[in-house]
Amino acid sequence: MRKSSRLILALDETDREKALDIADAVSGTVDAIKINWPLVLSAGPEMITELSRRSDVICDFKVADIPNTVHLIVDGALGRGASAVIVHSFTGSDSMKEAVDTAAGRGNIYAVTEMSHPGGKEFTAPNAEALALVGVRCGVKGFIAPATRPDRIAAIRKVIGDREILSPGVGAQGGSASAAISAGADYVIVGRAIYKSDDPSKVAGDIADEIRTVL
Ligand code: C5P
Repeated sequence: MRKSSRLILALDETDREKALDIADAVSGTVDAIKINWPLVLSAGPEMITELSRRSDVICDFKVADIPNTVHLIVDGALGRGASAVIVHSFTGSDSMKEAVDTAAGRGNIYAVTEMSHPGGKEFTAPNAEALALVGVRCGVKGFIAPATRPDRIAAIRKVIGDREILSPGVGAQGGSASAAISAGADYVIVGRAIYKSDDPSKVAGDIADEIRTVL
């Protein structure tokens, strides 16, 4: 994944044509497009391949399963053209290691240590540093840490060295792109603020400009 605007679009738009129009409008600005179950369930897994012709695609499937099932999901996503897959870290080292081994030479694995919504503080935040250390040992490319709580980005940065941090929660969930990058994130992930706007290209450009002010 290139490291230019440091902006990743979370394309949770469920209308296939609208999703492709938005991808076309912002693919020159964003460094990657992240897709999640809403778009895959409405438009089919072939969207992974279609979008991969426009941008790097990160499949945010938050895989949380036994190693064999993790292998099947990661293999299926990368086989359709994804560049990376997001997995949960709480499933433990064998599942995370299986994801990393399956992706080896074909793509990257990012692990969620802590969710960005308020409920993320209940169970994930208190365990996030320990989960991140397991992820480092398993060889993940990076971690998902919340832009809604920049102090938590800084805390995760302390335990993961120079591995990447991708940070969702900007815009609709209240987080700020520049604050997340300043706290140690490599990329911010932005969904509704871009794909629900009247001018996704302009909003993406404005966020990229904001990020540039703190680089
Ligand atoms: O629309 P919004 O910008 O809030 O979208 C954020 C995206 O990032 C969604 O796809 C959401 O599922 C995902 N995400 C998140 N918080 C996490 C992990 C992923 O918001 N901790």
